Amino acid sequence: MSKRSENRLADIQDLEPSLEEFRTSVVDGLSSPQKTLPCKFLYDERGSQIFDDICDLPEYYPTRTERRILERHARDIATLAGPQPRLIEFGSGAGTKVRLLLRALDRPAAYLPVEISREYMIAAAEDLAESFPELRIAPVCADYTEPFTLPELPDIDHGTTMGFFPGSTIGNFTRAEAVDFLSVTRNLMGPGAIMIVGVDLVKDLDVLRAAYNDAAGVTAAFNLNLLRRINRELGGTFDLSTFRHDARWNAELERIEMHLVSLREQEVAVGTLRFNFQEGETIHTESSHKYRLDGFGELAREAGYEPVEVWTDDKQLFSVHALRTL
Ligand code: AVI
Repeated sequence: MSKRSENRLADIQDLEPSLEEFRTSVVDGLSSPQKTLPCKFLYDERGSQIFDDICDLPEYYPTRTERRILERHARDIATLAGPQPRLIEFGSGAGTKVRLLLRALDRPAAYLPVEISREYMIAAAEDLAESFPELRIAPVCADYTEPFTLPELPDIDHGTTMGFFPGSTIGNFTRAEAVDFLSVTRNLMGPGAIMIVGVDLVKDLDVLRAAYNDAAGVTAAFNLNLLRRINRELGGTFDLSTFRHDARWNAELERIEMHLVSLREQEVAVGTLRFNFQEGETIHTESSHKYRLDGFGELAREAGYEPVEVWTDDKQLFSVHALRTL
């Protein structure tokens, strides 16, 4: 860390999930009839980097479409936020989209990025500190799917609290989890706060399938990296060449599911435990739910928010919702 950002990032709060939590999730997931692994573990340092590459893929429309919507409506968002807002970003990642907001907002008082991948978060916060030297940055390394507290910043006077949850990461929750997440953030931010959420929309299935089965195989590498992580961190014996990435549309639940398909019958060890795979058996690693505009508004109401505005692109590929906490 550079000297300058060492000072600027002095407020860092570290609640990164433990290795034990990872081990428990992997053992539980691989022991269930439909093997499954929580998608939050896709984002180790390498996984986060591969995800950034996904965002630049020609087939992966969400990132650039959302960016265009945010560019077009940054001023509207700034108007909703008012002067000196406190901005909390959930799952801040590379921190690129938030720059659009930070530039548009009226003298933002503080920026609190919440991110599960510690090293990645620090690097992104350092970059941001270089670009916004006046901005108070207080990073929180936490799993935002679990309740957590925000760092106290007693010396900061701020206006409206604004939450930012871009990228349709909310789609990686089940509907019930999405309601829970929004309820947790509502309680965290208090009444009268604004939440800006990016939400991917139901659309032509060819467009959806291509976005999750890209020609260059970057999404496949992202998915398979989870097995590499298990090998490295938990003493796993996964042979990556015996698993294949698959992304399929679940019509009933309106979601893309990522799976890792075992190409043969095999036994895999994780530490001292052994897991058997049939040929063709899958590990379900991620769900990416797609919403309809009114369906998401309904979900937000259930979580104690009032929908204020919704913006989309011309082709209605993606949506950005502004919600207010009640
Ligand atoms: C982070 N999340 C919104 C991405 C998505 O589209 O569900 C993760 C991803 N998985 C495969 N490609 C991208």
